[in-house]
Amino acid sequence: MRIVIAGKPGSGKGTQAALLSDRMNIPHLSSGEILRAEIRNATAFGKEVQEYVRRGEIGPERLITSVILEFIERKKYGKGFVLDGFPRTIYQARELDRRFSPSLCILLTLPDETIFSRLPNRLTCTACGRVYNVRELLPEREGRCDGCGSELVHRIDDRHETVERRLEIFREESAPVLDHYRRSNRLVPVDATHSPDAILRDIIKALESLELTNPV
Ligand code: AP5
Ligand code: MG
Repeated sequence: MRIVIAGKPGSGKGTQAALLSDRMNIPHLSSGEILRAEIRNATAFGKEVQEYVRRGEIGPERLITSVILEFIERKKYGKGFVLDGFPRTIYQARELDRRFSPSLCILLTLPDETIFSRLPNRLTCTACGRVYNVRELLPEREGRCDGCGSELVHRIDDRHETVERRLEIFREESAPVLDHYRRSNRLVPVDATHSPDAILRDIIKALESLELTNPV
């Protein structure tokens, strides 16, 4: 099954996508993580997008779209995935539909205040992208990822002003994307103010009600 997880920056897309991927045994892909890995590896593509990512802006959408779609193709994930952070523009939504049309788009909803209280507490693994927070989800060893042992850092785009900019861009760019899924009856809003486990339960319930719990 192909699922898109959408929502404001810091709404818990990565957290829920990872939980859902484990639960349903389908791969999790994050466009943000793919971009950050390219930046870390200083590839030509990474160099082209790094300023946009630092500022929380959407970069060259056609180039980014082809990189993400090729990634899905290369990894042979086309039959089933949980995709977080993509599509972000109507162009991306249409291209994704052409190649790997998702069954549904889960929209995590929460007020901006919750985001401003969550993001300064987030720690992200510099190697595998796993997400922690200094309040509820601390790593076993301080500053190190439980999964791969690499260093945990605050993301450069989690500065207050950049989060404001990311929220502004989300409001501008995501409206037509969400409309696109709403019009094709694929949009499933889920209240993202509860605990991660409670949100996952609500997502599973929504999938069950749509008879969409079978992987692939
Ligand atoms: P991306 O990486 O997608 O960032 P984002 O959309 O801003 O979302 P985040 O990753 O910040 O948050 P999240 O929703 O995953 O929340 P998380 O689970 O971490 O994109 C980054 C940049 O890359 C973009 O700005 C852009 O420049 C570029 N980019 C990416 N995709 C692109 C595309 N398609 N086209 C063009 N450019 C693109 O949770 C946040 C925190 O809250 C964590 O600490 C977590 O532990 C905590 N938390 C999660 N759930 C809960 C809960 N229920 N209760 C309490 N705390 C919680
Ligand atoms: Mg994320």
